[in-house]
Amino acid sequence: VNETGNSRNPEPLRGPVALCRLILQQRVGTGCKVADATCGNGKDTIFLAGIVGERGRVWSFDIDKNALEATGEKLRQHSLSSAVELVHAGHERLGEFISEPLDAVVFNLGYLPGGVKSTVTRPETTLSALEQSLGLLVPGGIVLLTVYTGHPGGDEEGRAVDEWAARLPSPGYNVWRSSLLNRRADAPYLVMIEKAV
Ligand SMILES: C[S@@+](CC[C@H](N)C(=O)[O-])C[C@H]1O[C@@H](n2cnc3c(N)ncnc32)[C@H](O)[C@@H]1O
Repeated sequence: VNETGNSRNPEPLRGPVALCRLILQQRVGTGCKVADATCGNGKDTIFLAGIVGERGRVWSFDIDKNALEATGEKLRQHSLSSAVELVHAGHERLGEFISEPLDAVVFNLGYLPGGVKSTVTRPETTLSALEQSLGLLVPGGIVLLTVYTGHPGGDEEGRAVDEWAARLPSPGYNVWRSSLLNRRADAPYLVMIEKAV
């Protein structure tokens, strides 16, 4: 998988981000509407923009203006700007900016490596954004979260996400948690929520 999601070369599944991308490639296609709840350096936004193409739409949120500006520049370099709306707002305001049904929402929690550690994601705002995401999701749509527990507050956020997700009704939602068994106990993991058809 290349950074714009358009190659068929398999990417080693070294961590949850790679698994997340594999699932996105399977479930998101041209013309889809998606959100990146944590833009950061823009890697997920660029990947999503490559998959949905010009007929699709990507809303990408961050509270860090520098991160959004750097992502905007990268999108221009890849000629992928037209499908992307960079939103300088917290993802807890997702519903104010998006009213269209979404095929997927991606969260990469924690803080931006090399960025400001105070802009770390927090349980309360993450859960609010998750609730809003489920409300916008089409039947068959997915929410994917890469969860990090190794930083201060990360453990608490991971627990909040797991407990919230575990309470989602079945039937109605299929909720997965996927982690690497041969890694440290605090290694990042993937949570996937599929809204049942
Ligand atoms: C782990 S980084 C995301 C990495 C990114 N997906 C990438 O591919 O480079 C987490 C990001 O979440 C952002 N963030 C923290 N709280 C947020 C909030 N309430 N709403 C939106 N973004 C937030 C941080 O500023 C940071 O850029």
